[in-house]
Amino acid sequence: YEIYLGGMGGAVPRLPMDLTRLEELAEHRLDAGPAGYVAGSAGNGSTARANREALERHRIVPRLLRDVGERDLSVEVLGRALPAPVALAPVGVLSIVHPEAEPAAARAAAAQGVPYILSSASSTPMEQVAEAMGDAERWFQLYWAKDREVTRSFLERAKGAGYSVLVVTLDTPLLGWRPRDLERAYLPFLHGVGTANYFSDPAFRAGLDKPVHEDPNAAVLHFAGMFGDPGKTWPDLAFLREHWDGPIVLKGVLHPDDARLAADAGMDGVVVSNHGGRQVAGGVGAADALADVVRAVGDRLTVLFDSGVRTGDDVFKALALGASAVLLGRPYVYGLALDGQAGVEHVVRCLLAEFDLTLALSGHRAPGSVDAGCLAGGTSS
Ligand code: FNR
Repeated sequence: YEIYLGGMGGAVPRLPMDLTRLEELAEHRLDAGPAGYVAGSAGNGSTARANREALERHRIVPRLLRDVGERDLSVEVLGRALPAPVALAPVGVLSIVHPEAEPAAARAAAAQGVPYILSSASSTPMEQVAEAMGDAERWFQLYWAKDREVTRSFLERAKGAGYSVLVVTLDTPLLGWRPRDLERAYLPFLHGVGTANYFSDPAFRAGLDKPVHEDPNAAVLHFAGMFGDPGKTWPDLAFLREHWDGPIVLKGVLHPDDARLAADAGMDGVVVSNHGGRQVAGGVGAADALADVVRAVGDRLTVLFDSGVRTGDDVFKALALGASAVLLGRPYVYGLALDGQAGVEHVVRCLLAEFDLTLALSGHRAPGSVDAGCLAGGTSS
């Protein structure tokens, strides 16, 4: 109503209401390096396209006359009460798109009450982001470094700064083949390399021959060589379980057998995700992998979903396929690029408003009643 009434007075929203148009606008606004880093994906983009195709292929079949006047979007995820089944996905080096970077995105999440998942590769130290959020819900995403001391230091720092859930990203033992990053560098746009999360870490610094400001190139190479570890295997998860008391969620799971291994390793949840199509080229659309993972571990683990979510009906479809909540990636980064904290808030509010309407127009008052029976060809559990 706020928007309709404003429109009658001639007001036009600063950003489009159709979140799919944000990418186009941000591409115009940003330099080629940062634009390519955010929008880019692996190979010729086929996995990113498959993400959209998978979500578009599922179709909602609405129900009628079910009293949807009062609705409640809240859900419980990993023992936390959330106002809606949405969180902001971890996205690294945000200072390349906006000088206020992660603290601005985190404040927007806090203002809307949705969890913010801070990336290990944040351009701001995790303590500073935590401070910007007050006591709002924050989770920490771990890139599981080769160097045990760096991992230990990150976990200690994250605990100390009030991050409550650990999201361990496993689909990035090496960076994917991303043509746009290979053609245009984005790191020169990072504001103050020395103050980024890794570079300010004492254990990371201890591994450098010279201080970051004396040899930033060597520091970046050190980071590139240790942020992932292609040698890790399932038994290594015991180290994380030992050093983190709260819930642990593995991000990047697509195969039901990996989801079973996660449950066997004492994990609390998985994020069905292909990193927004940025890692494996020619990969499965993430929404096509969701229902099988839920069938395999839905009774043992919390299943979250990301990769390709752009609209409220995408959120609805992910829930119908069995996810407890979704993570939103690129759209909020475009919101940040275009209008800082206000841009991120705009994106979150549009997504939640559209989800609320989808819920109502499909005949539901709350996420709890959304299941496979809401989709064409699906049956209710
Ligand atoms: C990411 N993603 C990501 N994931 C992660 O675990 N740690 C990270 O640092 C990053 N960094 C990152 C940067 C950029 C620019 C993008 C677009 C993505 C992946 C992210 O968390 C999420 O899985 C995807 O963005 C979801 O796909 P959509 O919503 O972007 O299609």
